[in-house]
Amino acid sequence: MKVSFVLNGKPVELDFEPQETLAEVLRNRCHLTGLKVSCEVQVCGACTALVDGLPVSACTYLAYEARGRRVTTIEGIGDSERLHPIQKAFLDEFAFQCGFCTPGMILAAKALLEENPEPTDAEVVSYMDGNLCRCTGYRPILKAIRRAAGLMRQQEAQSPPREGETASEASGGGRFRTHHE
Ligand code: FES
Ligand code: FES
Repeated sequence: MKVSFVLNGKPVELDFEPQETLAEVLRNRCHLTGLKVSCEVQVCGACTALVDGLPVSACTYLAYEARGRRVTTIEGIGDSERLHPIQKAFLDEFAFQCGFCTPGMILAAKALLEENPEPTDAEVVSYMDGNLCRCTGYRPILKAIRRAAGLMRQQEAQSPPREGETASEASGGGRFRTHHE
């Protein structure tokens, strides 16, 4: 079957079998191997991708369900020249060891911070409970997400308002969506 969606900001049309998962299509057909597959039963979060900005477990999400949507992987949010603030914060706080869970952690954190730019520690822990890390321990990850929240708020405050938008709208003032909205 042929399915079109927007992948990391670019429109793509891909040909794959209806039973293929988003993880299989992204890794095997698009060669986006940042996304990892571990448990394959929607428990560990290593396979997290964003669909329309919200985290999904790509190991159980059928790729055709992404038709017409925006799919984002770790390759789409920054690169070695221009790290995303969350990538920078994970480096600064030493929030990974083997790195297997890290792409999924960073994408889940991105979704969280876009919904809720100033989360409490409890909100971070609750939102991130679908992403497991087997080697770093969760304290540096929590610190990294806190640091990233500060960096992202700073970045928002410095970016000029878009046309027709007030400064408070541009900085995301008052925005809060629930995880499942
Ligand atoms: S590999 Fe998808 S949740 Fe573990
Ligand atoms: S850094 Fe190794 S599993 Fe998280």
